[in-house]
Amino acid sequence: MPAINAIYNYFVVHSTCTFQIESETEAARLAWFERHDAAHPVIVAVAGGEVIGWGALSRFYTREAFRHTVENSVYVRPDCHRLGVGRQLLAELVSRATALGQHAVMAAIDSAQAGSLALHAGLGFVEVGRLREVGYKFGRWLDLVYMQRLLGAN
Ligand SMILES: CC(C)(COP(=O)(O)OP(=O)(O)OC[C@H]1O[C@@H](n2cnc3c(N)ncnc32)[C@H](O)[C@@H]1OP(=O)(O)O)[C@@H](O)C(=O)NCCC(=O)NCCS
Repeated sequence: MPAINAIYNYFVVHSTCTFQIESETEAARLAWFERHDAAHPVIVAVAGGEVIGWGALSRFYTREAFRHTVENSVYVRPDCHRLGVGRQLLAELVSRATALGQHAVMAAIDSAQAGSLALHAGLGFVEVGRLREVGYKFGRWLDLVYMQRLLGAN
C-alpha cells in the first residue's frame, strides 16, 4: 500500500492526470483497498523487488445496474515510463475484467494526457464522451474524456 500510494501521490502533486489535489493519506488508501474485492482486483508491477506500477478495476458507479461495468486505473512510477509497464498493466486488467465476466471497462482521462489517451487507444478503448471544464487544477479548467472498451460478455 505505501508503494502504491507513493506512486499515486507523485501524480497528485505534479499532474492533472488525477483530479485529486490533496495527497491521499495512508488510511484513505487502505480504505480504497478494502473497497476492492475478487471482482475488482488491484495489481502491481514489480521489478527488482520494487513496485514500479499498479493498476486496479474499481466500481464505475455503485448503483446495482452498473455492476457489469468497471473503471480502470493505471499508474507507473515516473522513472519507469515508456518501458511497456503501463501497457502490460492495462492489458492484464482487461484480461481479468474479461475473465470476471465484466461487460465494459471505462477510463476517465484528463484530455491533456496524450500518453494515457494513446495507451488506452492502443488497447482498443474508444472515446465515448468528453465533459468540458469539469475539473479545475493548477489554475486551469480540465476536460474529462471517457474512453470505453466493451468486452462482449453478458
Ligand atoms: C499513462 C501511463 C500509465 C503510461 O505508462 P507507461 O508505462 O509509460 O506506458 P507504456 O510504456 O506501456 O506505453 C504504452 C503506449 O502508451 C502510449 N504512451 C505512453 N506514454 C506516452 C507519452 N508520454 N506520450 C505519448 N504516448 C505515450 C504509447 O502509445 C505507448 O506505446 P509505445 O511506447 O509503443 O509508443 C504513465 O504515463 C502514467 O503513469 N501516467 C500518470 C498516470 C496516468 O495518467 N494514468 C492513466 C489514467 S488512469
